[in-house]
Amino acid sequence: MTTATATTMATAANRKLAEQQQSSKATPHMIAEWLDIGSVDQLPALGARTLPVRGGKEIAIFRTANGAVHALLNQCPHKQGPLSEGIVHDSSVTCPLHNWRISLLTGEALGEDKGCVPVIPVKIDGGRILIGRREALQGMA
Ligand code: FES
Repeated sequence: MTTATATTMATAANRKLAEQQQSSKATPHMIAEWLDIGSVDQLPALGARTLPVRGGKEIAIFRTANGAVHALLNQCPHKQGPLSEGIVHDSSVTCPLHNWRISLLTGEALGEDKGCVPVIPVKIDGGRILIGRREALQGMA
């Protein structure tokens, strides 16, 4: 995926989120539970992409070797390292700053390390990546 594609993916997702936020003010009963952030094909195996969100934070979306997709707040629980720049292996990511291993399933630090980062629910529908809207918004707080 090129930077332009990643930017397009993030921009489209942000636009949908903004539209949903606008509509939530007018008709709260019509809020979508899931936010479509792009095609699975745009996410390489063992790679990650980020989705900038309100408040200057980011959500990191990871794809494992077996094709599973996971999303975490892009902040290591140790010292806020960018997990999206880490190495994805099995169902975890190794932080690029001090090598903590973080579970992509639970957001918890593995091994001797202690800490946890918020997990954003993900589901795949028709080749599209959907993330939990409410949890994504909470991650922005
Ligand atoms: S910031 Fe991630 S291991 Fe230190």
